[in-house]
Amino acid sequence: MGDHDLYDNTYYNTTGLMPMTTPDTIDTNDGTRRPARKEDFPLLVNIPIAYLDSAASTQKPATVIDGMKRFYETSYANVHRGIYDLAQQATAQYEDARGKMARFLGASTTEIVFTRSTTAGINMIARSIVRGLQPGDEMLVTAMEHHSNFVPWQQLAMQHGLVFKVVNITPDDTLDMDDLRAKITAKTKVIAVAHVSNVLGTINPIAEITRLAHERGAIVVVDGAQAVGHIPVDVKALDVDVYACSGHKMYGPEGIGVLYAKHDLLARLEPSEWGGEMVGEVTIEKSTWNELPYKFEPGTPDITQGVGLGIAVDYLVGIGMTVVRAHEEEIMMYALSRIKEISGIHVLGPADIALRSGAIAFVMDGVHPHDIAQVLSDAGVAVRAGSHCAHPLHCAKGLSASTRASIGIYTTRDDIDRFIAALRKAAELFR
Ligand code: ALA
Repeated sequence: MGDHDLYDNTYYNTTGLMPMTTPDTIDTNDGTRRPARKEDFPLLVNIPIAYLDSAASTQKPATVIDGMKRFYETSYANVHRGIYDLAQQATAQYEDARGKMARFLGASTTEIVFTRSTTAGINMIARSIVRGLQPGDEMLVTAMEHHSNFVPWQQLAMQHGLVFKVVNITPDDTLDMDDLRAKITAKTKVIAVAHVSNVLGTINPIAEITRLAHERGAIVVVDGAQAVGHIPVDVKALDVDVYACSGHKMYGPEGIGVLYAKHDLLARLEPSEWGGEMVGEVTIEKSTWNELPYKFEPGTPDITQGVGLGIAVDYLVGIGMTVVRAHEEEIMMYALSRIKEISGIHVLGPADIALRSGAIAFVMDGVHPHDIAQVLSDAGVAVRAGSHCAHPLHCAKGLSASTRASIGIYTTRDDIDRFIAALRKAAELFR
């Protein structure tokens, strides 16, 4: 099956989705037209690798690369400060990106704080949240968290005398909701959970978790880093209190992240980082804070990165998130069916495709993940091997490491075929 078969109407009709609507099409050798994907990404055109490391970082479409260059060349100045035209234009473009991100997540612009990354956003809001807690208050995290939504809570719990509890995972690699229900108490103040696990690919039942949390008066802080570029996300429908994500995992640049939090929560919380632009008035005795969301954005922000993120949102919206999801589901199904052809491989994560996104981590009997990654690299296939910043998860699974292939909107069946061929070679070499 050629790559273009992924995009024909038959495929989308069988999944119940609308055909692709993006106007950007390319002519194929057989005379048909299909939406451009890999061709949108200069690196993937220049470097003929099978890039299966999108969970670590996605490649960037030409629109993002060119748009950032154009911004530097025609519109760059610091934002929110200058009254000259150029500064006003730069501010308008930066704020336009905030508006795009707000619409993308279903939020208001006052609820979108630009940060450096998911990690920076979670650290910042965690410090603010914990200021309002009492010793003995409890927080729940999950065993499948990336360290960025685990370690900040663990460390703050130690510093502030808080109780730190970890929700287990089931043998099927889903969140153990019975364990979660058993561990929520009247003292639970925060539940920290990934929307999508960066190792298992598990899509967690966030709406159900927020419902349970809110019944107990707790807030829910979601690490959305592995979700936003892959599945439709509506923070209001999920009713999450906080949702953090990174630009570089959704086809935008590194150095920019987004922290969504409900307006009332942001209004109530004290900032935990201070400096220029986040203040209202400063005297020797005290300082007051700027309006939302600027109260949480001290210093010169990552301006061009913000603009680039806005262009990445345009790119995803142009395709449509249900189409992105349908494409990735199809590629995942294909990869999971082909990987079964090789004996001695154990795939992590739920068997049900509807419960998983993006990441396909696995172990191979008798072969170290780093050796697999090296053989794959030699064959031009880029994957990640190690513990993927998720030590507690690997520990819970009785593993020290795994190999992870992860996909994106540009991943084709051809990439998966190269991956499977290289895996076979690794199995032959080491077993
Ligand atoms: N958090 C990124 C990953 O899972 C870096 O690979």
